[in-house]
Amino acid sequence: MQLDSLITEFDRALRTLAAPARSVRPHPDSDVPEVPLDPDQRRHAAALMRINHCGEVCAQALYQGQSLTSRNPAVRDALRSAADEETEHLAWTERRIAELGGRTSLLNPLWYLGSLALGVGAGILGDKWNLGFLAETERQVEAHLEGHLSSLPASDARSLAIVDQMRRDEIAHAETAVGFGAAELPAPVKAGMRLAAAVMTRTVYRI
Ligand SMILES: [Fe+2]
Ligand SMILES: [Fe+2]
Repeated sequence: MQLDSLITEFDRALRTLAAPARSVRPHPDSDVPEVPLDPDQRRHAAALMRINHCGEVCAQALYQGQSLTSRNPAVRDALRSAADEETEHLAWTERRIAELGGRTSLLNPLWYLGSLALGVGAGILGDKWNLGFLAETERQVEAHLEGHLSSLPASDARSLAIVDQMRRDEIAHAETAVGFGAAELPAPVKAGMRLAAAVMTRTVYRI
């Protein structure tokens, strides 16, 4: 790897963790009116959006690790453009958490590093497995977001609009990975991924 690409990746990592993310597309909740929530609902919604924000931090690291190691330029480009959409998800969840009076997870740097290692590890196995890991991640995120659509307060239409658009984007990301020849991961690997995600979501709900 060349020095300039290392610098670019390091810059990306710093921006993910320390700078506000920006969205090219309008935020999905831009035209959705704010409805007053009671304190418990607000806390719950902010905690769920914190989990989603943390997931997007992890997505940045995963995509970064994978594009660093991918051998195929077309795959690398596809990973980059999906990563740009994940940056938008980061921006949407970040703003919503602030509106709800919450904060992002203190553990984000930790999850970031873990995900970067996973992304690099998957990339080293080759594009077929790299993409398989990506497709499975996106499918699991989609299922998770689906759960949030019913767990968020029904009156919190702004958070719901964000989560719904994210869910649609994640479906498209999984399809892109499959289109590039993603392998189907063995069931125990999928189960391990679900377990890791469950630990993450339970911890980040609180911290
Ligand atoms: Fe995302
Ligand atoms: Fe995604």
